[in-house]
Amino acid sequence: MAKKGLRKGIFITFEGVEGCGKSTHARLIYRYLKRCGYPCIYTKEPGGTKVGRMIRQILLSPKNAKLDDMTEFFLFEASRSQIVSEVVTPALKKKNVVICDRFFDATMAYQGYGNGLDKGIIDKMNRLATGGLKPHLTIVLDIDSKKGLYRASRKNGKDRMERKAVSYHKRVRRGYAAIARKDPRRVKLIATRKKTSETQKLVKREITNVISRYSISG
Ligand SMILES: Nc1ncnc2c1ncn2[C@@H]1O[C@H](COP(=O)(O)OP(=O)(O)OP(=O)(O)O)[C@@H](O)[C@H]1O
Ligand SMILES: [Mg+2]
Repeated sequence: MAKKGLRKGIFITFEGVEGCGKSTHARLIYRYLKRCGYPCIYTKEPGGTKVGRMIRQILLSPKNAKLDDMTEFFLFEASRSQIVSEVVTPALKKKNVVICDRFFDATMAYQGYGNGLDKGIIDKMNRLATGGLKPHLTIVLDIDSKKGLYRASRKNGKDRMERKAVSYHKRVRRGYAAIARKDPRRVKLIATRKKTSETQKLVKREITNVISRYSISG
């Protein structure tokens, strides 16, 4: 497949509650875009950098059940600022498609809607950690919180976030729906279907829309 060029880098993020299928669909899209000939990278938050992976361990280890809400918030933002400067910004400068599994909307949904931290402060911290960088497109995969938690727990046991109460995860889901309503141009909420392939078709439609806007070959 011939290499395809982009007029500029495109930043796409995947969001949603535990087990909604973010990683599954982000990876499928990554492979699809590669097959199409687009320069593309896949990364994830928290993680994606050496420092980020160390922070991820602190955040997700069930051993840290006592992690304070504010500490949790700062650690997510710290991991974010690292991934932006080390991975996302350089790749966008090289006109790549950057696919990121979770980004700043996760902090609004989890720490804001889930934990009740001040949303204005979260907005400011998100801007500080990202230097104002915003995704061109954000896919929120919507699934019943309980169903998602069940799917996620089948993988390798429950991490610290997955151990939180179902009521918390329901607030997170409602948070994502509110985020999508507030910014409908950027954030597309997709109700997941039974079959991965059916959901992937809907995801692909949104991705193709945004890529075609910046593709040199049209
Ligand atoms: N349509 C589907 N039907 C049944 N199982 C699915 C479907 N899509 C994904 N899964 C499974 O659900 C689990 C969670 O999917 P995935 O890891 O992609 O979700 P995630 O949103 O990245 O989860 P996490 O929040 O834990 O990172 C995986 O085991 C995956 O194989
Ligand atoms: Mg995942």
